[in-house]
Amino acid sequence: MENKVRLHDKTFKLFIPNEEIEKAIDVVAERLNKDFADATDEDPVMLICTLNGAVVFAAELLKRLNFPMVLKACKLSSYVGTTSTGVIKTDVPLPAHMEGKRVIIVEDIVDTGNTIVAMMGQLKEKNVKEAHVCTLLLKKDVYKRDVKLDYVAMDIPDRFIVGFGLDYDELGRNLKDIYVLDD
Ligand code: IMP
Ligand code: MG
Repeated sequence: MENKVRLHDKTFKLFIPNEEIEKAIDVVAERLNKDFADATDEDPVMLICTLNGAVVFAAELLKRLNFPMVLKACKLSSYVGTTSTGVIKTDVPLPAHMEGKRVIIVEDIVDTGNTIVAMMGQLKEKNVKEAHVCTLLLKKDVYKRDVKLDYVAMDIPDRFIVGFGLDYDELGRNLKDIYVLDD
């Protein structure tokens, strides 16, 4: 495990080791397994992985889920470099047919909440039965929006992090541990 990593022009230091991340995922997966135990093959839960950041979390989560589910993806983006632009772009839209489904949005991180609020807005028009958010990370002191975050694996302070799927201008997603900007 490296203590420091360099990406583009910045240095990051070790913040959350992989074992701690995996333990937090175990806990959130157990809650999901309880809450969605009644799903059936005829009516599976729809997990929506938000690209690209949530792919690592979604993969780890999926391995632990034991109820019938289907996996879909969508992509909204707002970040350039280390700050949110506040302008949300839809790069990959939500699935076409979601009527009557129980949906879980799988996110890497909720920061200002702009992305999750925009996604919930798009979901409203899809006539889903239920929509839940499952996020690996939450910047608790920043998030002030109304969308309820039902499943949060870890709270973190308002710092810029990379690793375990999260990037700094596309680099760092493949780091096994989570690193924080060293300033
Ligand atoms: P929000 O719309 O401000 O909640 O930001 C959500 C998105 O911004 C996430 O899905 C990430 O792609 C990105 N993001 C927010 N905070 C960080 C961070 O600390 N490191 C890397 N990406 C982040
Ligand atoms: Mg990103």
